[in-house]
Amino acid sequence: MQLYPVLLLAVAAVVATASAVSRPPRTTTIKHDHPLIYYHGRWDSSPGTWWYVQHFTFCLQVVTVKPRAGSGFKVNVKNLKALSLNLGEHTTAPSASIGVSVGGSEFFTMNVSAGANPLPLNAPSSGLVTAKKFSSTLVRINVEGWQNNRINLESITLNSDASLLPYESSKLAFQFIGDSLSAGQFLPQGVDQAWPFLVGEKFKAEHRINAQPGAALTDILSYGNVHGVSYQFFKTEDTGFYYTTDHNFTTNWNFARENPHSTHIVIHIGANDASQGVSNDQFVQVYSDFLAKIRALNPRAPIFVFTPWGWPNSDGTISYYYDGQYQKIVDDRKALGDKNIFLVDTTGWVAWADVFPDNVHPNVAGHQKIANEFIAWLAKWGLSPQ
Ligand SMILES: *[C@@H]1O[C@H](CO)[C@@H](O)[C@H](O)[C@H]1NC(C)=O
Ligand SMILES: *[C@@H]1O[C@H](CO)[C@@H](O)[C@H](O)[C@H]1NC(C)=O
Repeated sequence: MQLYPVLLLAVAAVVATASAVSRPPRTTTIKHDHPLIYYHGRWDSSPGTWWYVQHFTFCLQVVTVKPRAGSGFKVNVKNLKALSLNLGEHTTAPSASIGVSVGGSEFFTMNVSAGANPLPLNAPSSGLVTAKKFSSTLVRINVEGWQNNRINLESITLNSDASLLPYESSKLAFQFIGDSLSAGQFLPQGVDQAWPFLVGEKFKAEHRINAQPGAALTDILSYGNVHGVSYQFFKTEDTGFYYTTDHNFTTNWNFARENPHSTHIVIHIGANDASQGVSNDQFVQVYSDFLAKIRALNPRAPIFVFTPWGWPNSDGTISYYYDGQYQKIVDDRKALGDKNIFLVDTTGWVAWADVFPDNVHPNVAGHQKIANEFIAWLAKWGLSPQ
């Protein structure tokens, strides 16, 4: 369906070029499989996004690029003028919200739909104005909603005198695994304001956030999720697949596609297991099995296991769950010889003032507070920003 207008535009472009001798085409189209589009997060083969933070990133430049040799080479970028995302039919209708950062700007939200979606590059918030003094303009885009978050990238249209430069990924790559408490559910800018994203930004790291609101770790039905995270994490699709008519199935995620491999794995989960009545022993078993699978995939990355910060109450008390069980999970792994696993005690990180009173999830300031706590924790542990 969505091909039709795109096709018409293409025909128009050809006609225009033919009639105006030697005038270069005003735009250039970069197909989704261009090797210099750096994808991260979970993409299916359409290619379309699943889960919450599915980035793709690309650099743009104008002048002829000389091969990079040795260290220290810069190119001037003056000419990023127009950028349009051409999205296919698997994009959430009527729209999906994306976060966009241009040239290191703050992320701003944009709603995109199937068809052409020009970025508002002339808006002061876009960052292009200040970015012009740098050698290349980094454009970062990610799906930010905790639902209605599928974008199906067919191509990118640029002004014709722009071209793609390699993106050099960070040497740090965080993998966050969790539920609504990590997904940024109820935040205006979704996951872009959630603590995992903020932590990744602070350390200038790549980040992957696989956080499924309502899901238990245990593979049981929980608040509309047909599977638990211990199952779904290994799939390309989040549990929303079940409600998706044009993609009602899952595929195994190929972890070899992740570049770089995750260097730090952070897990904060269990709230929904507790709500669904999963017992202490069952939870410890499921979590231990999950860790064994994660470790098999990634023998080297340190794994950080969060204790719950609990559910704050208006009277100042906090309701905790699985008391002592997270310590047991970590101790069990250590007893198996895994030296690279750490308990992060989040007791006291979140108080009543840090949550939305009606759903007890961290508010914007609460997420920032959690991020700051974990950033300080990691710094003490020995991690420094790239
Ligand atoms: C995006 O769409 C949602 C609802 O579909 C709306 O609430 C929001 O204000 C829109 N955001 C922008 C930046 O247009
Ligand atoms: C997806 O498939 C399942 C059966 O496997 C079915 O119960 C469900 O209704 C389907 N969902 C949609 C949206 O078609």
